Amino acid sequence: MSSNPLSAYACPSLPQDAFASATLEGLGRSQKIIPCAWLYDQRGSELFEEITQLDEYYPTRTEIGILQACAPLLAEAIAPGAVVVELGSGSSRKTPLLLRALREPHAYVPVDIAEDFLRASASALAADFPELTVLPVVADFTQPFHLPPQVSGTPHPRLGFFPGSTIGNFTPAEAVRFLQHAARLLGHNRRMVIGVDATKDPAVLVPAYNDSRGITAEFNLNLLHRINLELGADFDVNAFRHEARYHDRLGRIEMHLVSQRKQIVNLLGHRFSFEADETIHTENSYKYSVPEFQALAASAGWHPQAVWQDPAGRFSVHLLSNIVSETA
Ligand SMILES: C[S@@+](CC[C@H](N)C(=O)[O-])C[C@H]1O[C@@H](n2cnc3c(N)ncnc32)[C@H](O)[C@@H]1O
Repeated sequence: MSSNPLSAYACPSLPQDAFASATLEGLGRSQKIIPCAWLYDQRGSELFEEITQLDEYYPTRTEIGILQACAPLLAEAIAPGAVVVELGSGSSRKTPLLLRALREPHAYVPVDIAEDFLRASASALAADFPELTVLPVVADFTQPFHLPPQVSGTPHPRLGFFPGSTIGNFTPAEAVRFLQHAARLLGHNRRMVIGVDATKDPAVLVPAYNDSRGITAEFNLNLLHRINLELGADFDVNAFRHEARYHDRLGRIEMHLVSQRKQIVNLLGHRFSFEADETIHTENSYKYSVPEFQALAASAGWHPQAVWQDPAGRFSVHLLSNIVSETA
C-alpha cells in the first residue's frame, strides 16, 4: 500500500452556518440548549484533552486499559484489510491500540466536526503509521455523509470505532437512530467497537464532570467565548457558571451554563433574555449497564458479539456486528 499524502476529503455536509443555526434555534427554546458538538472548536478540543488527563476523569484511562487488554481478541474477530472509520476521533489517542492489533488495516478514516484539530491529529497518526492510508473527513456524524471515494464501494470489511462514551451524548432514542445511521454508512460487511461509560455512584460521576481544577468549567464556558468570537454575540462570560448535575431517573449527567443574573444577550440581530439561575443545557452523558447498552444496540439492528470491562465495572467496550441485514 502506498503511503498517504493526507489529502483531506472536504465533506460537503457541514454547512458554514450550521453553528449559527443550531445556536439560534437552541437559545430560542424554553429550556435553552446548544448541542454538545459545538463545544469542540480548537480550544474546546484542547481542553477536552486536558480533561482526559484529570484524576477525576476516570473514563479515558479506564477505556485505554480495556482496549489494551482486549485488542488481540478484537483483532481475531475482524477480518484482515479492514477500513477503520472512527466517529468523533478527536486526538485519535486510542486508535493506535486498535490499528497495531488489527491484521493489515487498509485505511483509517477519522471523522470529526472540529476541523483543525482533526487535521492535526490525522497528520500525527499518519506519521506514526506511514503505510496506512489516512483519510480525514470533516463532518457532523449525526447527518448523512459519504466515506471518501478511495474507500467507498471497495470490498474491504468496515470497522466503526466509537470510543470515549460519545454514544452517551445522545438520548437513548437518538443513540438508536445514530447506530442505524452508522450501519448505513459502514455498508454490509460491518462491525463496530463502542466504548460505553457505566452507571455508577454519583459521588464518582459528578466530579468527573466538575473537576477541582476547573478545566471542565473552562471547557463548558468556552462555548460562550466561541459564540462571541465566531457569531459576534455579546455574552458576558463571567456572568455564567458551569454546573454538572446527575439526573437519577434518566441515568445521565447533564452539563449546564447557569446565568448568574438577569441579563440580555444579543446574537445575530436577536435578543435572548436570561433570568437569574436560568440555564443553557450543553451536554448529556448517559450511563448504561452492559445489558442496557446491548438491548439498545440490538434495537438498532446490531448484534452484541463480545464485551469487555475493567475489573471494577466502570466502563465497557462492545464489539457489535451487523452482517445479517445485507439485503435490508
Ligand atoms: C467525547 S470526545 C471523544 C474523543 C475521542 N474519540 C476519545 O475517545 O477520547 C467527542 C469527539 O467527538 C467529536 N464530535 C462531537 N459531536 C460531533 C458530531 N456531531 N459530529 C462529528 N464529531 C463530533 C468532538 O469534536 C470530539 O472530538
